[in-house]
Amino acid sequence: MARLLITGGAGFIGTHSCIVLIEQGYDLVIIDSFVNSSPISLQRVKEITKLTKKESIERLQVIHGDIRNQKTLEKVFSDAIREGRRIDAVIHFAGLKSVNESLQNPISYWQVNVNGTSCLLSTMHEYNCRNLIFSSSATLYGQPKSIPIPETATIQPINPYGNTKAAVEKMLSDISKMDAEWHIACLRYFNPIGAHPSGLIGEDPKETPNNLFPIISQVASGSRKVLRIYGNDWPTIDGTCIRDYIHVMDLARGHSAALNSLLKKEHKHLTLNLGTGEGYSVLEVVNSFEKATGKSIPYEIIGRRKGDTAISVADPSKALKTLKWKTSKSLFESCKDSWNWQSSNPNGFRS
Ligand code: NAD
Ligand code: UD1
Repeated sequence: MARLLITGGAGFIGTHSCIVLIEQGYDLVIIDSFVNSSPISLQRVKEITKLTKKESIERLQVIHGDIRNQKTLEKVFSDAIREGRRIDAVIHFAGLKSVNESLQNPISYWQVNVNGTSCLLSTMHEYNCRNLIFSSSATLYGQPKSIPIPETATIQPINPYGNTKAAVEKMLSDISKMDAEWHIACLRYFNPIGAHPSGLIGEDPKETPNNLFPIISQVASGSRKVLRIYGNDWPTIDGTCIRDYIHVMDLARGHSAALNSLLKKEHKHLTLNLGTGEGYSVLEVVNSFEKATGKSIPYEIIGRRKGDTAISVADPSKALKTLKWKTSKSLFESCKDSWNWQSSNPNGFRS
């Protein structure tokens, strides 16, 4: 079975994807700096996948390292070749992802997201590994002109984080034009939420969260008093913003579908939206979360947040056509799973 390098594999989307990939029989090498994650998340992955000690040595190797360090990356690829188990493909999750932080510190966002990726790509090139899946984002679409958003929509990010994702997509497009041996998939995620149904892994932001789901979970658990909703004067059904929330396990399956297709060399360069195609307003999310958890979510309406857009919903038809992939989990299940994770791990992996 193929062996994969997973950058940022200890993070939110990485850990859930690792489970699906291990269950499909792939062997994984993970590189993570743990700047926004904990090594405990990977212990939990071993627990969920029921890997024995021997199997985890062979199938889930963990390297504490930074993707900006070319020497570390070269060692990963050369060690793999020396062991006779070369890396067949890379799934590249590692990166910084906070819009707010990117506005305050754009240099580190360009360093990690762009220079880190360029370091990874040159090492892959050197070691003749030409299969890559890249974590892109719906943030690329900025303020979309029409809904649902197809992959052909204009790329017009409105913050440094989005600019770094657009820059990497451009770099990948140039590489695939230059060298026909590359097989690349850029997966543009909409709003990943939920957690593994076991409640053993989930989203565990190290800094104060800005995203809706970690905040709602904190309100439900009582560690935060109230949810502040950013505006009820948007042109939507109830005046609050609409988003396409995708369960992280559906997203994880999207990665394995894309990988299987790349390894069969079905596509040279794929760009796909990964979303449900359905939008929910913030108030609908609050309502669903309350129903799924039996917890009340006190909220207050405050002014609009800078950089928000009224509606962001994917057109996921290309992913269905090319990969035969579509989501299967509802918003209700996502709320249940988010709460299951949060309530059994109130301090995340620190507990
Ligand atoms: P995450 O922060 O949980 O995971 C990212 C992982 O990368 C973390 O474990 C972190 O420690 C690691 N990392 C960061 N910088 C590194 C470096 N220089 N070297 C090695 N490891 C490093 O985030 P996530 O939600 O799992 O997101 C994964 C990817 O998906 C990111 O590239 C993100 O930009 C992208 N994405 C996320 C979302 C979202 O809402 N979660 C949406 C769209 C795209
Ligand atoms: C945000 C980022 C986006 C990034 C994505 C994933 C901004 C403007 N956008 O998207 O670039 O790709 O996260 O990391 O930061 N909300 C509240 N109160 C809160 C938190 C959120 O009302 O306390 C609302 C927001 O206005 C939005 C919805 O909930 O309408 C979802 O917010 P969030 O989870 O932050 O995701 P996005 O804004 O879609």
